[in-house]
Amino acid sequence: MNKIQEGIYREGKNLYTENLATGERHFEETILRANGIEYRQWDPRSSKLATSIIKGMACMINRSSKVLYLGASHGYTASFVSDIAKDGFVYAIDFAPRVVRDLVFVCEKRSNTAPILADAKKPETYYHYASPVDVVYQDVAQKNQTEIFLKNTGTFLRKNGYGYLAIKARSIDSTKQPKKIFMDVRAELEESLRIIDQRLLEPFQRDHCMFLCARK
Ligand SMILES: C[S@@+](CC[C@H](N)C(=O)[O-])C[C@H]1O[C@@H](n2cnc3c(N)ncnc32)[C@H](O)[C@@H]1O
Repeated sequence: MNKIQEGIYREGKNLYTENLATGERHFEETILRANGIEYRQWDPRSSKLATSIIKGMACMINRSSKVLYLGASHGYTASFVSDIAKDGFVYAIDFAPRVVRDLVFVCEKRSNTAPILADAKKPETYYHYASPVDVVYQDVAQKNQTEIFLKNTGTFLRKNGYGYLAIKARSIDSTKQPKKIFMDVRAELEESLRIIDQRLLEPFQRDHCMFLCARK
């Protein structure tokens, strides 16, 4: 197992994290055991964060990070963020009760992760839980996803913190070229944030782009 950064490993083409919830397998992921440690395989086809790492983007989440995760869904990627930020905390937000029900079961096994049923368009409704944070990670696939991200980074991101924005071009406008949409998103982000990196997520996620930003 090759360590590529604290908490993230690579074996061949596959990414792994150390399982914080030893003995638990939430998503039927492959588990490898070595030297008494359990490693969970992290599938880039199901996680834009895993794809961005495979595509060479730095992972700014570390062992002690406090992370606001917007669009946690059933908790797939959030569970790997929880593995990496083992001494930190993950505020896992989604507005769909059906997926939050599954997320609750994942969080029950993870002392550093809390499920929050809330709308990312209304940061004021979860402000009392989660401010400030080291990382805002957003994957909500909504038309106004850039506006939602700016609202949340503006409200929650501490000085020297980082924001990840996963953009799904088709959710913004299915008639426009993804390349043009990514250029427009970049311009909008640059008004308030410093863009550190930008990666297309092909071939794992078609017409998706990940932006990594910092506060100006
Ligand atoms: C593409 S899925 C996220 C997948 C997840 N990030 C992962 O990698 O495991 C998008 C999620 O965003 C949630 N979502 C969309 N708009 C939202 C909003 N305004 N507030 C909170 N959650 C939202 C949806 O309910 C859905 O579960």
